[in-house]
Amino acid sequence: MVRCGESGGGCFGSRMGMRLARMCHLLVLEKGGLIMILVTGGAGFIGSNFVLDWLAQSDEPVLNLDKLTYAGNLNNLATLKDDARHIFVHGDICDQAKVLELLQLHKPRAIVHFAAESHVDRSILGPGEFINTNINGTFSLLEATRAYWSALPEAEKTAFRFLHVSTDEVYGTLGPDDAPFSETTAFAPNSPYSASKAASDHLVRSYHHTYGLPTVTTNCSNNYGPYHFPEKLIPLIIANAQAGKPLPIYGDGQQVRDWLYVSDHCAAIRRVLEAGRLGETYNVGGWNEMANLEVVHTLCDMLDQQKPKAAGGSYREQITYVKDRPGHDRRYAIDARKLERELGWKPAETFQTGIAKTVQWYLTNQAWVADVQSGTYANWVATNYFNREGA
Ligand code: NAD
Ligand code: TYD
Repeated sequence: MVRCGESGGGCFGSRMGMRLARMCHLLVLEKGGLIMILVTGGAGFIGSNFVLDWLAQSDEPVLNLDKLTYAGNLNNLATLKDDARHIFVHGDICDQAKVLELLQLHKPRAIVHFAAESHVDRSILGPGEFINTNINGTFSLLEATRAYWSALPEAEKTAFRFLHVSTDEVYGTLGPDDAPFSETTAFAPNSPYSASKAASDHLVRSYHHTYGLPTVTTNCSNNYGPYHFPEKLIPLIIANAQAGKPLPIYGDGQQVRDWLYVSDHCAAIRRVLEAGRLGETYNVGGWNEMANLEVVHTLCDMLDQQKPKAAGGSYREQITYVKDRPGHDRRYAIDARKLERELGWKPAETFQTGIAKTVQWYLTNQAWVADVQSGTYANWVATNYFNREGA
């Protein structure tokens, strides 16, 4: 990994940056096209899985732009420490001038945009950062991209792609018998998080229709797997169970989510990047609708098998019903048939296989969990779960 920008912007125009740019230009000459992708938010949960999977399957370098908020973690990318194909830049997508400089220096052929504030509970307690990064940041990134892309030679302009990673939460909530969300379902976001993502989806759409920017958007369901920050349901339950802490269930625990194993999501993004139709959106789902309580029961039962409680009994005894999330969406479900029909993608994992891999990963990576739980994590837990007791 080549690391730039630690002192607030270094890589943009630094000697290291120039050397890398020259290296890439040589490759461009050799291969006859641009040969690097820019990933935003590549130190987060899905972004880091995507970077790792990408470099496991391709030699095309990745320029990784990440602000390293509480959710960004370079330890996720530790295996790329000595890998020159990964260039890390510490920076903010809201910094339009710097992003443009970066694009002009490195000349990526595509941008995969993950960077976002992503946790619904945080958006309820403090929506400002969600508006800033998810809306203003995406706008700023689109503007820098438009300036860069407009000046590309015709062939490179045509081949360029901007892939925007979004969520099924933009569609709102479903009743128990409603059909799953399709790409034509009307947007009806219910949380500041989903509203900010919906706004970013609209901006991306408008840049395609107005300026012809070659965009594609993916709207996926709840991801799970390695490197998932333990503020989200699955990693939180695995961590709390082992620590002997309560397993908090919001409301009645009958809210339904569709669960998508993260490497399946990464494969879908690669496929859409490769062959997605311009201006289109593709839903990505795991065909695994489950109520939260069922997910938690599954995790408890797996942990009972694999790491039995020293004092005996089941982890299920730690389940604690707490006050519900305000505006809590009752059900999400994804119809992912368009992606299968047009691009031949289907998830490889079932919930049973994916969750087994996930539990195994957390049991063997306790140091990663301990590391992310240090620092400001404790403040978040105290803030979010304060006053929730006794639903
Ligand atoms: P995450 O919170 O784990 O990671 C977000 C990353 O973005 C972090 O590395 C963070 O440092 C970086 N970041 C935040 N603000 C930034 C800024 N202003 N400039 C540059 N970098 C910034 O999120 P995730 O779960 O990996 O989600 C990635 C994307 O996928 C998001 O756009 C999210 O909305 C979308 N998504 C996630 C899920 C899910 O289940 N996790 C589901 C659907 C869609
Ligand atoms: P989460 O992982 O935060 O994802 P999202 O809100 O994007 O779906 O939550 C998944 C579900 O689990 C959601 O219905 C809220 C619920 N939940 C709990 O019941 N308890 C918890 O402590 C958390 C974090 C989530």
